[in-house]
This record gives sequence, C-alpha cells and structure tokens, in this order.
Amino acid sequence: MAAIGSAVGLGNVWRFPYVCYENGGGAFLIPYFIALFTAGIPLMILEFSLGHWARRAPPEAFKKIKKKWEWIGWWTVLMPFAVATYYVVIMAWCFSYMVYSVDLHWGSQAEVFFKHFLGDTGTPLVVGSVSIPVLLGLIAIWLSIFLILYKGVDRIGKVVALTVPLPTVLLIILTIRGLTLPGAIEGVSYYLTPDFSSLGDVNVWLAAYAQVFFSLSIAQGIMITYASFLKKKSDINNNAFIISLADAGTSFLAGFTVFSVVGYLAATRGISIDALGSQIAGPNLTFITYPTAISLLPFAAAFFGVIFFIALLTFGIDSAFSMIEPISSSLHDKWGLTKTKATGIMCLFGFFLSLTFVGGNGLHLLSIVDHFIANFGLVMIGLVECVTLGWMYELYKLRNHANDTSDFQIGKWWELLIKYVIPTVLLTILIVSIYRNLIHPYMGYPWWVIATLGVIPLIILFTSSFVLMKIKVKKRGA
Ligand code: PHE
Repeated sequence: MAAIGSAVGLGNVWRFPYVCYENGGGAFLIPYFIALFTAGIPLMILEFSLGHWARRAPPEAFKKIKKKWEWIGWWTVLMPFAVATYYVVIMAWCFSYMVYSVDLHWGSQAEVFFKHFLGDTGTPLVVGSVSIPVLLGLIAIWLSIFLILYKGVDRIGKVVALTVPLPTVLLIILTIRGLTLPGAIEGVSYYLTPDFSSLGDVNVWLAAYAQVFFSLSIAQGIMITYASFLKKKSDINNNAFIISLADAGTSFLAGFTVFSVVGYLAATRGISIDALGSQIAGPNLTFITYPTAISLLPFAAAFFGVIFFIALLTFGIDSAFSMIEPISSSLHDKWGLTKTKATGIMCLFGFFLSLTFVGGNGLHLLSIVDHFIANFGLVMIGLVECVTLGWMYELYKLRNHANDTSDFQIGKWWELLIKYVIPTVLLTILIVSIYRNLIHPYMGYPWWVIATLGVIPLIILFTSSFVLMKIKVKKRGA
C-alpha cells in the first residue's frame, strides 16, 4: 500500500495526461504498456528483491553485495531527497489552493491570481519577495512528513490506509462530474484519439519509458527501502505487478478527469482545445486551468475545488514522505541514529533547502531543478543499478530470491531485460537528452544559470554519496 502511495502522486495527475496527449494520444498507451512491462515492472522486481534480501536501506544493501558499492546506495537515497525539496513546494501551493477554493478566491482571473500568489517575478534571476502562504504551507507539509515518519513504519501503514483510497475515490467523483459536463466528450476524444504514426517516432518511446520511471518511483532507492520492511513471506513478483498496474490505472483515469474539464473549458469559452495550448500541462493545469474551469461550474463549484486539492495533497503526501524515508532509514542503519533524530534532521534540512523556492522566482527555479533531476538523475541511477547488478554480480541470485517468495515465477527473460534492454533504453534516453540540452539550453536560459541550478546540484549529489560512504561509522551498542 505504501509503495502504491509513493508511485501514485502528482505525476499521475499532471504529468501523464499531457505526456500521453503530446505523444500520440490513445496510441501512446501501446509504448506506455510496453515500457511498463519491459522496464517498469522488471526494475521494480529488481529493487524489491534487493531490499527484501538485504533487509536494509540502499547503502547497506549495496554494501552487502560489494563493499565498494555503498556509494550507489547513498546516491539512490540522495536523489529522491533532492526531489522532495521542490515536490513539497508544489504541495504547499496545493495547500494554499485548498483554502482558496472555499470561496473560489481566484475569481475570474486564475492566471493573474496565481502570479500574484507566488509574487512571480517572471524570471529565475530576480528573487522578489517571499510568499507567506507558500512559507506557511511548507511548514505544514514538512511537519506532516515528520509526524508520519518519526515513529517508524507502523505509522506509515496507518497513514496510507487513508491517503491511498481517499484521493482515488475523490478522483472518481471528479471524473464523473467532469464527464457529465458539456464539452467533456470532445476533451476525452482529444486525449485518446490515436495517432498511430507517432509510434514510429523514437521520442515517443523515450517519453513512455521516462514516464514509467518517474511514475513508478523506481531508480530512487524508495522501493529498495520499502521492500526491506516487508515480511519474509511477501510475494515480490505479485506486488510489483499490482503496484505498477494500480499506478498505470490511476494515470489513465486522471486523463479522463483532466481532459473532460479541459473540454468543458474550451466549450464554455467557445474555443478549440488546441487554443488552450500550454494550459493543459504541469503547474498551469493545476493552478490556472482547473481552477478556472471549476469556477464556471453551475453548482457546488467550491466543493469540487476543495476536493480536487485535497485529492492532490493526499496523492502527493505519500510520494513526499517516501522520498525522505530512504535517507532517514540509511542514517539510522549506518550511524544508529534513532528514527526520530534521523527524520528530524532530514526534514529540517529539507525544509531549509525548500526555502530556495519561496521567493518570487520559485516557479522558475523549480522547473529548472526538476528538469535536470527528473530527466537525468533518475535515468543515471537506473542505468547504474542495471549495470552493477546485471553485469558485475550474479543476477540470477536476485531472480531466485524473488521467485522463492512468489507464486508467479519470473524466467530468464527477466535477466535479459535487466542486462540488455533496460540499459540500452536508458543510455539512449540519456544521450538524446544530453544532446537536446546542449543544442537548446533549457528554456533558453544562460549557461551559468543552467550550470548552477541543473548541473551543479547533480554533481553535488553524486560526490556526496562518496563522502557519506567514507565517513566512519561510530561503534554502536545493539
Ligand atoms: N511517482 C511520483 C509521482 O508520480 C513521483 C516520484 C518521483 C516519487 C520520484 C518518488 C520519486 O508523483
């Protein structure tokens, strides 16, 4: 349940629908499911069997295989921690918007309101002033993460029993409301009308793999950590299938939720959906387009606004704490810090780092950092996992471990996927992304901005993993 909570998050609601739409609509489901079965599920099985076999967080798990590999484990837990520092900021925006929904505070000018709310300066280079609502939201979210994690995994279990089903039910309610609006059918057919010619485009395939990686929270040390808490007898293969399919199902459903409302908005305005352009992706979708459509609803507008943001917050919170748990478990494993101390330190540190994004340039800083960490960080870790475990270790041992616990047995094909298919795809994604970024610097920003916010954080994360490996362990009691 916690793994489903980690996988299903903001990525399903605001990323999947437009990635799907941009890459061939209904036809995208073909590369998506192929990516899910050839890379997503196999890698999840790999991470589960490693964590379950080692019964430790990633640094100790990798160390258990080869002493020199401890840094890989640190690297896999530092990356999601870095993601958390800005993911939480988006959640803080949702938090404020949940409150604003009560009286549809944005009025008829959602775009102007969003800019005003952020104190947006329009560029990453001008800091502007601190947004107090965002700051308060951040405090609330980090505090919630701390309170959920500091007592250990039992509490995670209780929290996800609520925060996984609740937003799913809310999403279903929102979808039903969306689909019964005028224009909804046009919206949905816009989302799903297949463009089969897109299947010949390599970028579409890359987008499918990237979406699967991001959405399943794999290549992040998270699934290794969660599997280390599983009971000895847990069925690894079955779990990997269920979690991945639940995640894919939620994304697919969210497409209906989003595009029905997009269709409604276009119909009310008497414009084509194409004319909404960038309004259907990312922060614009959540904080401008959706609120605008909500305020046009004929009845109970505030109600639907509030439940939309509650759904996002509850979808997001279990992804957010899953990004902190691996590093705090690792600190606990290596230095014997209590769970409370380790979680407290990381939440406080994370809170200070997320302050980077509370200024009027927050949105822009956030999109640069996200662009680099999500596009490169994830792919590099996935690649290192496949290369080290697939090529420099007896991979069949992990396959045997997974099969020993599972009803459904995975065959030799799994090893072939880990050794050949996944690394090839990831390496291609990496090369293509580097090439694209060199040709067109992200958003046309100057190189020093890209280096400071994109490349340097990645280098810091990489080198820190070696530093953490080298720091000596003090003798501990038990
Ligand atoms: N899978 C999460 C989502 O879809 C995001 C995430 C990415 C979580 C990386 C953890 C690590 O929102």
